[in-house]
Amino acid sequence: MTTTSTIAPHGGALVDRVLRGGAREEALARLTGAASVTLSDVGLSDLELIATGAFSPLTGFLGRADYDRVVGEARLENGALWPIPITLPVDEAEARGLREGRPVALLAPDGRLAGLLEVRERYLADPRREAAEVYRTTDAAHPGVARLFAQGAARLAGEVWLLDAPPRPFPHLHLTPAESRRAFAERGWRTVVGFQTRNPVHRAHEYIQKAALELVDGLFLHPLVGATRDDDLPAAVRVRSYEVLLQGYYPATRALLAVFPAAMRYAGPREALLHAIARQNYGCTHFIVGRDHAGVGNYYGTYDAQRIFDTLRPGDLAITPLRFEHTFYCRTCASVASSRTCPHDSNHHLTLSGTKVRELLRAGQAPPPEFTRPEVARVLIEALRVA
Ligand code: ADX
Repeated sequence: MTTTSTIAPHGGALVDRVLRGGAREEALARLTGAASVTLSDVGLSDLELIATGAFSPLTGFLGRADYDRVVGEARLENGALWPIPITLPVDEAEARGLREGRPVALLAPDGRLAGLLEVRERYLADPRREAAEVYRTTDAAHPGVARLFAQGAARLAGEVWLLDAPPRPFPHLHLTPAESRRAFAERGWRTVVGFQTRNPVHRAHEYIQKAALELVDGLFLHPLVGATRDDDLPAAVRVRSYEVLLQGYYPATRALLAVFPAAMRYAGPREALLHAIARQNYGCTHFIVGRDHAGVGNYYGTYDAQRIFDTLRPGDLAITPLRFEHTFYCRTCASVASSRTCPHDSNHHLTLSGTKVRELLRAGQAPPPEFTRPEVARVLIEALRVA
């Protein structure tokens, strides 16, 4: 059985490209007089994820050959599974002034120094093809596609080093993959299920987490806190809601909350693979993939993000996906259930859309307790009232 102590990082080794002490000083000296490129929020979070090993085996921003194969086949040039191109968009005129083989300073959006890029290659991406293959749509109304189309096509590629970590809004919840692996070992968890979310945890989420927790030793509640679209609740509010939920309803010895500093791409099935790979790197043995994982609007079928795992070859992934059907509260069963466990039709079910829930919360009303725990509702109402 694969356990937290045996599960290998994707590609075999945990990447660590965070420079400290003398190595950092040397890198700073190399950057004296070097050109600089300013990263977007997404670029900065990609840099951190690469450098801390969450995106192992990537050691930098993808070059052309990797980019082409990732877009077309969800694989790096060496054949390893990699579903979403992690690239560094750059202004075309700016790119012309840069030379291969030279270091470039990577600046955070606020102008602070963040990292160093060893420029290996400059190339033009194909945003339309990337949208069609990775996002399965070229509709500019899709938030991930909109971001892609807004970038232009020029890309810079090469290995990166992190010199100064981006600001951490939740320092007490920040664990690198090396740290989460240690935390699992300290707790004696042999198996751990990772849970990705960009939303408050409602009862349906809690149900699938706890169903999984009946089978494994620990739950790694790992909300994404990087860039999301405006309709998603701010990360700080969500984090507060996770904290009150865990305090009230989860055994402290079996659940661990930490933040995932990634940007949301809303790429549905392809992003489900990325989320699973990252959680494998963080040391999870299992990963929950529920209904419309990482989806948005109606771009993906309810279970497309589960089906993509069926297309993998043996050895592609070490983490095991745990698939859950759409769950809901059934008044007649008097419990959360899914079509696998509930015989009643939808008239018996309590289903609330995200829009409806937001409307209620904005009006200062808690959704029914069968849908959202009252403690969570209070946090959300308070935040939306102030906003
Ligand atoms: S996501 O973009 O991070 O996937 P969300 O936070 O809504 O969005 O979902 C977190 C996880 O819970 C995903 O695996 C998703 O598929 C699953 N999920 C959300 N709601 C339900 C539900 N009602 N039934 C089953 N799975 C769900």
